[in-house]
Amino acid sequence: MSKQFDVLVIGGGPGGYVAAIRAAQLGFSVACCEDKAYADPKGEPRLGGACLNVGCIPTKALLHTSHLFEEAAHSFAEQGIRVGKPEIDVARMLERKNTIVGQLTGGIRGLFKKNKVTFLPGRGAFIGRNGANWQMKVGDESVEATQVIIATGSRARHLPGVPVDNRIVCDNVGALDIDAVPKKLAIIGAGVIGLEMGCVWSRLGAEVTLLEAAPQFLASADADVAREAAKSFAKQRLNIRLGVRIDSVKAAADAVAIEYTDAEGKEHKLNADRLIVSVGRVPNTDGLNAEVVGLALDASGRISVDDRCRTNLPNVWAVGDVVRGPMLAHKAMEEGVMVAELMAGQAGHCNFDTIPWVIYTSPEIAWVGKTEQQLKADGIAYKVGKIPFMANGRALGMGETTGFVKMLACAKTDRVLGLHIVGANASELIMEGVTALEFGASSEDIARICHGHPTLSEAVHEAALACDKRALHF
Ligand code: FAD
Ligand code: NAI
Repeated sequence: MSKQFDVLVIGGGPGGYVAAIRAAQLGFSVACCEDKAYADPKGEPRLGGACLNVGCIPTKALLHTSHLFEEAAHSFAEQGIRVGKPEIDVARMLERKNTIVGQLTGGIRGLFKKNKVTFLPGRGAFIGRNGANWQMKVGDESVEATQVIIATGSRARHLPGVPVDNRIVCDNVGALDIDAVPKKLAIIGAGVIGLEMGCVWSRLGAEVTLLEAAPQFLASADADVAREAAKSFAKQRLNIRLGVRIDSVKAAADAVAIEYTDAEGKEHKLNADRLIVSVGRVPNTDGLNAEVVGLALDASGRISVDDRCRTNLPNVWAVGDVVRGPMLAHKAMEEGVMVAELMAGQAGHCNFDTIPWVIYTSPEIAWVGKTEQQLKADGIAYKVGKIPFMANGRALGMGETTGFVKMLACAKTDRVLGLHIVGANASELIMEGVTALEFGASSEDIARICHGHPTLSEAVHEAALACDKRALHF
């Protein structure tokens, strides 16, 4: 006898668990299944997906600890605080990170109980149709549901010939559990994970080299922002080499040797204690039995969906990393809510043009909307308002004067088209830009809003004023 539900969500990451909770709030009977990819020490599946277990949350915990360490080592003395030379207890740092992960993943179980979502441990797969229902398998159990939401997420892409043991050669999973500060850390891929993890370990004293295939640094960011960030990273012992080709990786018991060719065609050998491979992620579609039910995938192997996350199969939806678009937790959650609301006949929506990007390095990098290079390519006339944090009183008081806020507004209508920030707290400041874009605000709208003083957000205010060439403090 099959268990019956209105909705079965496959995958308990941000896309899946949020979709399950919202669907339950809307009155559906909902089950969410989760495989053992992120099991707890007892072997029980943990909810929260990559984000809570091996992604957003643990990385930010390590970034915070390493930030405090760096402050204590390099900024305290300047402010008259004498603490001597700080030492890092890596085991304690990892324990704290693991506690936070445990707390949050357990919290989702609590949220499921509160919202009456049934948690089904086990791998979910399609079997076929039974009338209007989808026949599914979760582990060994048979389940029927009228609607299915696939939220199976993604995993690290590995390189051929570079076996990951998550000890010497790590992907994002092992990178979060390195148990001593490596003297030399090599990272293949200077994307988001490479930069964040590079920041963590360089602050703790590692000599970090990032080997990046692309000729341009952070090509998806505004070019001004990428330049400023590169300048700042170079000062922080992050050695970023662009346009390289990895020729070979040989791991030994406690070291790794990497051979690569640089952009000029010169061959190099790099010896390191650890290597992190962060070259993007691949969608989790295997084991779903997609081929048996004819679920269509796109050219990149992700599940094919329209802008409302509908797949080619009736009442089957897919959200998050397993479908097109940026692989970001907030994008996955937004899609999860949209799908639940659409299933309930509501006007669920997800605005893909206002999804913020944040990189939690130091300085932080955040943007929303169009970059200057995109506006040029689209032939859109625009105005620029750019304010350095050096001209902001709060930034000066915090000793955080690196970077700037750059607002881009339409030359004809003054509508805000993009906000680009590199500097302290960019992750929080960017939300003013997201709100502006969502509400179709003009730069003058932002300029006429009274911003608290002294705050970093005044730099956003000044950037809006600068769009009209009337900045007051720069
Ligand atoms: P996932 O989180 O991957 O969850 C999918 C879940 O489905 C997994 O738990 C998996 O075990 C399960 N599953 C797969 N197949 C099955 C099956 N057949 N049956 C049952 N269960 C299954 N994003 C941000 O927005 N901000 C950040 O700061 C950030 N930092 C990151 C740092 C790192 C190191 C990494 C790796 C990622 C980071 N991300 C960040 C990205 C973010 O983690 C993902 O975008 C997000 O987790 C995607 O959510 P999801 O629900 O689509 O997939
Ligand atoms: P990424 O796509 O950000 O960066 C991968 C980098 O590796 C690219 O610059 C690419 O050019 C490079 N690369 C690819 N193949 C290579 C090769 N053979 N040799 C050298 N370089 C190579 O992917 P990353 O860093 O693995 O992160 C995966 C995803 O996780 C991100 O795209 C993002 O969606 C998400 N994420 C988000 C974070 C955030 O929001 N703060 C933090 C970390 C991850």
